[in-house]
Amino acid sequence: MESNRENFASNLTAILALAGSAIGLGNIWRFPYMVGEYGGAAFIIVYLAFSLLISLPIMLSESIIGRRSRSNTFGALRKLSKGRTWSSLSLLTVLSPLIILSFYSVVGGWSIEYLFKAFGGAFVNADPDNVRAQFAAFTSHPFLPLVFHTGFLLLCAIIVILGVKSGIEKFNKVTMPLLFCLIVSMAIYSLSLPGARAGVDYLLKPDFSLLTPKALASALGQSFFSLSLGVGTVLTYSSYISPKENILVSGVGTTVFDLLFALIAGFAVMPAVFAAGIEPGAGPALIFETVPFIFCKMGSAAPWISSVVAILFFAAICFAALSSAISMFEVGVAYLVEEKGLSRRKSVVCIFLGVWALGALCAYFPRLFSLCDTLTSNYLMMFGALLFVVFAGWVMKKEDVLSEFSSDGRYPLNRKLSGVFYFLLKWVAPIAVTLIFITNFLS
Ligand code: TRP
Repeated sequence: MESNRENFASNLTAILALAGSAIGLGNIWRFPYMVGEYGGAAFIIVYLAFSLLISLPIMLSESIIGRRSRSNTFGALRKLSKGRTWSSLSLLTVLSPLIILSFYSVVGGWSIEYLFKAFGGAFVNADPDNVRAQFAAFTSHPFLPLVFHTGFLLLCAIIVILGVKSGIEKFNKVTMPLLFCLIVSMAIYSLSLPGARAGVDYLLKPDFSLLTPKALASALGQSFFSLSLGVGTVLTYSSYISPKENILVSGVGTTVFDLLFALIAGFAVMPAVFAAGIEPGAGPALIFETVPFIFCKMGSAAPWISSVVAILFFAAICFAALSSAISMFEVGVAYLVEEKGLSRRKSVVCIFLGVWALGALCAYFPRLFSLCDTLTSNYLMMFGALLFVVFAGWVMKKEDVLSEFSSDGRYPLNRKLSGVFYFLLKWVAPIAVTLIFITNFLS
């Protein structure tokens, strides 16, 4: 089995794939709003510190476990530990990306629908009530959400069936640079609108008094969610990174790209929101109700520009959602191929059917949708992050962890940073994750 495992061609394509997984709806619909609400630049500084001191060590521990074992999540913990306790626990982390994928795919379906709408000029000259009505009509339609959820999941299945190199790597290599160009052009346009200044102030004006304990917990939670930690995607993707590459570079690269994208997305959305004179918000409503309203406003002045910007925006959303979704899909597929001996094709079909069914239910039962969301982002992801970090810090041998960290001593800087890294991994990260876990339980 191991001999025909595929590898990413280089560290750059590994970073693009990891960034593809990390950059998703969370960067666009949660980060900008959080920044605005929790103190602008002050929040960004805290977020950056948390990402580097806590999330990065967790990401690296997933990378170390994945690359050392060259296995899927379950196989990795089975190979690197004695007994079955750890690998049995890891089954939960094989399940959680599939639960996330089921409702993520429903939203992915909405973005495809909205891309079609944008092509059809649906937002030009529509008023805000009409935009809201369009969203309500679509989400409560008897079968359209199901059709688009199916379409979105099928696209993921096709990419994953093609394999790590010809599917996942190729897709991310093309779409990630494109996604950056799309979001940068959106940001430039948005910043050029009259009244954009208020949006920039909202994002950047530092206000340290807003950094409450809740803000700190949200910053750490968002950093986890945004970097896709604790669900085995980083572990699985890292198992495809060649042993010669520097995983510190791929970890830092992914963290930086993810943050950069979230900031640019903030500049793409908030200045336009303020220029249109509306209240910023978070969540699906920001993307599917607030932003289309901006396009309507623009539309009255220049219909074609508004259509083009709407198309660019929803194309970016679709790419961002797809590249994240395929990484969740791959976690399940790698497990079925390596642990259950199924062919890649059969594994993809199994995962497709399971996720499709749960997603279809989520599409019609909003309470199930939010249950899956809370269950995964508040509990399962935290559980997974804790599992990986405790495994790397307390179960694996220190020499093995550090030798994987420096790719068998190949990288002198990594060797120098070993002490700091190991301290963060062994003490700081597990304590931080436990604290958020408790906060989530109590709130
Ligand atoms: N990081 C993704 C985003 O920002 C969401 C996400 C959470 C995710 N967990 C994941 C993506 C696991 C892929 C795999 O939207």
